[in-house]
Amino acid sequence: MKSSKIVVSKKKINKYSGDLLVAFVGLDEEGAFAGDELLQPLLESLSQYKEFTGKAEEHILLYPPFGPLTDLLSAGLLSCRRLLLIGRGKIQSQIDAGERNETLRIAGGIIASQCKINKIEEVGVVLPHSAGLSDVEVGEYLTEGILLGDYRFLKYKTRKKDEDSYIGIKKVELYSDKHNEAIRTSVVKASHSALAVCVARDMANEPGNGWTPTHFADYAKELAEKLDLKCTVLDKSELAELGMGGIVAVSQGSETPPKLVILEYDPGRKSETILLVGKGLTFDSGGISLKPAQGMMDMKYDMCGGAAVMTVMEAVGREKPDVRVVAIVPASDNMAGGGAIKPGDVITHYGGITCEIENTDAEGRLILADALAYGIEKFQPDCVIDVATLTGAVVVALGHHHAGLLSNNDNLATKIIAAGKQSGEPFWRLPMGEMYAKQIKSPIADTKNTGGKHAGAITAAEFLRQFVGKVPWAHLDIAGTAWEFTEKSYIPKGPSGFGVRTLITLLRQWEKGLFTGNGSETRDK
Ligand code: BES
Ligand code: MN
Ligand code: ZN
Repeated sequence: MKSSKIVVSKKKINKYSGDLLVAFVGLDEEGAFAGDELLQPLLESLSQYKEFTGKAEEHILLYPPFGPLTDLLSAGLLSCRRLLLIGRGKIQSQIDAGERNETLRIAGGIIASQCKINKIEEVGVVLPHSAGLSDVEVGEYLTEGILLGDYRFLKYKTRKKDEDSYIGIKKVELYSDKHNEAIRTSVVKASHSALAVCVARDMANEPGNGWTPTHFADYAKELAEKLDLKCTVLDKSELAELGMGGIVAVSQGSETPPKLVILEYDPGRKSETILLVGKGLTFDSGGISLKPAQGMMDMKYDMCGGAAVMTVMEAVGREKPDVRVVAIVPASDNMAGGGAIKPGDVITHYGGITCEIENTDAEGRLILADALAYGIEKFQPDCVIDVATLTGAVVVALGHHHAGLLSNNDNLATKIIAAGKQSGEPFWRLPMGEMYAKQIKSPIADTKNTGGKHAGAITAAEFLRQFVGKVPWAHLDIAGTAWEFTEKSYIPKGPSGFGVRTLITLLRQWEKGLFTGNGSETRDK
């Protein structure tokens, strides 16, 4: 993974002599204003043209000779080779913090895309003042947007076209006249979360033959070594011995062996434990209930939940929050080989619950069930969050603009929605309840793995609920947002890394006693 160097400086902008200087323009009653006095005459001259008014997301790239830009250069007031002005629109302090963060990430994404178009490797950015946000927050979200927008996956391009020869931004210099030390700290935070997201995108971009359960295991071992985490990998025979009938069943149609990958971070003090479980289905053909050929290749992305929980541990290992975090990824292919499970088969999950397989394509819940039951028994967590590209039904319900959130605990659900909002990752809570659970009753086993065509995202969650007992739990169905997530400047086409930043935000803000205080009653009982 390429890493960009980010420095924070008090230098005046006229000292910047690099390829691209970026400044922001806001709007007030009198029209456009730039953050820096120096640029005000330039804005006035620009106002003769109608193409740049300072509206949000509007941007214009200026090269000398251009009227006052040339004047500023020749007067020695500026020395940059190009100037990018980005509009911030009306600076409203009343919009909520989540939306303000998002405008900065989007601005960061615009900087990255302009750098890409013009093959710029070094950029200087004048940090804007933003109503309602501190300089420190501005630095964090803008950096996040730049780094997230500066993502590309070129590993398999051997005949590089001209556009592929640009490897991205090497250095960003952020200019602010105050709080440089605090801004530096927030920039480091932003790079932790952006790096985690970009690694998750890399994993997802890898094809089915480039990212197998063994790759998850190797990644976790390396991370454990690098960041002093504990890594455990259970292989097929250990999974069978432990009675993880779901993972074994899903993997048995494939030559590629499954793994259960566990990463643990322990702050070393007495603390609460959060368990994260991610669906690591490295290719989902549907199995014997085979998927149609069209679009099947997208199912290499069926491991995005696993990628999210593993890469969150990169940030956790670096930031060392005051909470114990355990991440588990059940990793397997779902193929239709000779040994594959068949519709009608009955399997036994970890803990003894039996399940009739109605459709072998509803495999995610089978591997998650074992991982949830095992993780809860072994690590006794205070709360559990699973992340999975679980159902096409959630895409029908919410499209590509919200992930589904299903939970047995109002407190946890509220915290996740808030962390998502702060991170630009929207969640929408869907209901649960006994009436939905009825749809997954089996005539011959304890449960079955599909619940008919209605409310598929909910019946999938009801299936999982059987394996979490009374532990506060939330299920994040990211099938619609893990890729093709709402088009934005800092979300490239392809995998988005959705969920990573919400989880990191949640862990950073972890409040002790969330589930031991009042108000942790379940929602529907
Ligand atoms: N991995 C898919 C869900 C999925 C669909 C993810 C579209 C991303 C985009 C999952 O394993 C699956 O196949 N689910 C089935 C369940 C059904 C058979 C009950 C589905 O949603 O069709
Ligand atoms: Mn499937
Ligand atoms: Zn799947």
